Amino acid sequence: MGVKRKRKVIMFDVVGDRAIPKLNKTNCDVSNNVNSLINRWNGRAYTQRFYDILEKRKTLPVWHQKEEFLKALKDNQTLILVGETGSGKTTQIPQFVLETLELESRDKCNKYMIACTQPRRVAAMSVARRVAEEMDVNIGEQVGYSIRFEDCTSSQTVLKYLTDGMLLREAMTDPLLGRYNVIILDEAHERTLSTDVLLGLLKEVQKNRPDLKLVVMSATLEAEKFQGYFCGAPLMKVPGRLHPVEIFYTQKYEDDYVEAAIRTVIQIHTCQPPGDILVFLTGEEEIEDACRKIKKEIGNFGDSVGPALVVPLYSTLPPAMQQKIFDPAPSRLMPNGPAGRKIIVSTNIAETSLTIDGIVYVIDPGLAKRKVYNPRTRVESLIVSPISKASANQRSGRAGRTQPGKCFRLYTEKSFHNGLQSETCPEIQRSNIANTVLTLKKLGIDDLVHFDFMDPPAPETLMRALELLNYLGALDDEGNLTRLGEIISELPLEPQMGKMLVVSPELNCSNEVLSICAMLSVPNCFVRPRKAQKAADEAKARFAHIDGDHLTLLNVYHDYKQNNDDQSWCSENFVNYRVLKSADNVRQQLACIMARFNLKLCSTDLNSRNYYINIKKAMLSGYFMQVAHLERTGNYLTVKDNQVVHLHPSSRLNHKPEWVIYNEHVFTSKDFLRTVTDVRGEWLIDMAPHYFDLVNFPHCEAKRVLEKLYKKKERKADINTKKLSFRVTSGTC
Ligand code: CDP
Ligand code: MG
Repeated sequence: MGVKRKRKVIMFDVVGDRAIPKLNKTNCDVSNNVNSLINRWNGRAYTQRFYDILEKRKTLPVWHQKEEFLKALKDNQTLILVGETGSGKTTQIPQFVLETLELESRDKCNKYMIACTQPRRVAAMSVARRVAEEMDVNIGEQVGYSIRFEDCTSSQTVLKYLTDGMLLREAMTDPLLGRYNVIILDEAHERTLSTDVLLGLLKEVQKNRPDLKLVVMSATLEAEKFQGYFCGAPLMKVPGRLHPVEIFYTQKYEDDYVEAAIRTVIQIHTCQPPGDILVFLTGEEEIEDACRKIKKEIGNFGDSVGPALVVPLYSTLPPAMQQKIFDPAPSRLMPNGPAGRKIIVSTNIAETSLTIDGIVYVIDPGLAKRKVYNPRTRVESLIVSPISKASANQRSGRAGRTQPGKCFRLYTEKSFHNGLQSETCPEIQRSNIANTVLTLKKLGIDDLVHFDFMDPPAPETLMRALELLNYLGALDDEGNLTRLGEIISELPLEPQMGKMLVVSPELNCSNEVLSICAMLSVPNCFVRPRKAQKAADEAKARFAHIDGDHLTLLNVYHDYKQNNDDQSWCSENFVNYRVLKSADNVRQQLACIMARFNLKLCSTDLNSRNYYINIKKAMLSGYFMQVAHLERTGNYLTVKDNQVVHLHPSSRLNHKPEWVIYNEHVFTSKDFLRTVTDVRGEWLIDMAPHYFDLVNFPHCEAKRVLEKLYKKKERKADINTKKLSFRVTSGTC
């Protein structure tokens, strides 16, 4: 791998639909053994659906490059494959590989397995389901998926779709990823943090495992960069079949992009020829709100317009709802009436991860929620920000998959050319990398500065990560992983949360802290339907704990369990049953990991005054770097960084405690602290004196208060020593 090879570009002719190869013994899909009527995976006869999907698969561009792809893979250890979204990379390529491995194993009877990574959970689940359907097997048997807190695989699984983060976790226990023969890193152009780390890691692993094949798949962006990184590995291009897409820009800046998007949907639905619409918005609430408004406005037109199926798509949507994006558009109400239309309102999941057929119109406000990280203030937030030109082009491409399409950009042509960056900055350069550093340390990679990152993180970001892990006690002063660090690295939680869980048995509250960790690892459990907002707020108030949101979450979990996981109790109390069920599942999984490390589950007596104190102290032992102090001005300032912050309106904390710890610092209209709990100043200096060391403290009100607390503590210690010496003296008398 160290020898620089000449770059190879394999170009293939575009093969039209007429040139679909006939199935024969050498090129048939052996894994499914379509020449036989029996499915070799489960011994059952193929269903009609299998044959229907097979016909569609045969028309996908990658289908025509199968032989060339397999030959290139045979001849090379690493292969880069680029192709337009929808050309069949994610669904077909792993099946081609599977077919070869299956054939080889027939002679040798050896075991084999393929991993295909996805940056998004939704994509991993959805694609695995689709491929299981294509192979006519049950999901979780031969084809499965693995995402954080959900493993849908079995001992039979030979093709596993998994998030890039999960593959990284697997590498921690199996550094050479020995169970896989072929690893496919999909959607590499997204340049997520985990994919970037995997790229560097797999490059190393391949040196020790010449048998391990790697396929890096990407949309048509940055392909040459991957080729350069892999020392000239061959680049295979799958010619797309994009139809022309006409681009429209607005003439002036639209300040309310959601409203502008809804207006454009209505204009298309009332005036444009048939074809489905894809709208890109930025998040769950915005999407649900837009869907409601679109349905209402279309409803106002009555039968004069065609029926519309309006479907939301975002990452926390339940799987059954996610499948709805693949439902066909509704049919006309009357034989000569206007045609029906499917309208999908999605986050940028639909940009490249999921391909939805039939889209003819794309509406692009040019925005997406992106992670940004400021190492100076240590704040990582999701901010609605302009997308890159490359993203805008991907989005418009979605309109031309099946026929010529139109893309309506809700910004001016000038701002496209002058205001957008050409590529999206890789996630590693805009994230807090503490967790990544911990993972790399666990993988035995000590020299992070010289790790072969495709684009290295900023030195300050790396320094901040090392500093956090050192303060937590996960790394020692030499930067080596401590025993505590090892345990934290095995927990699928952010390091601060991992620390609070590990410390909780010592504070006799691990049962409760475990429940809080589980509740913090699932989406928001409170529901607030538009028509019942008051009742929902009242229900939430009944769970509220005076000391803050973490304990409110604990109340919800306890009540849910006391009511025997009852679905109707959940709806009566405006909490989401599915979310609580998944919190319960997360709790069980975390409990298993704790058992592995002999971390016992225990509780302080509920009637003891220490019950809540112990829980809060455990939380503080992990989150002591996320503390804010209430100033005399009435504002909160984050400790050490002195940023003005506000308690988030969703917080149930109805008084303003002097000190709070927070789970998240988010920036929306203002700087907000979300999920906040009241703590005592004395605990800060008791539990984290190394962090609250006043020598390195900026001048501020919090420092003065802490100084007083230190003095008080010293006085107390003095009195105690005197008392002791008095006793000793009296004892000797
Ligand atoms: O990965 P790439 O974007 O190249 O394409 P793909 O995801 O493999 O999609 C190939 C085809 O499968 C498209 O026509 C999709 O619409 C279809 N597909 C589907 O019907 N259901 C899914 N869950 C995923 C893909
Ligand atoms: Mg794909």
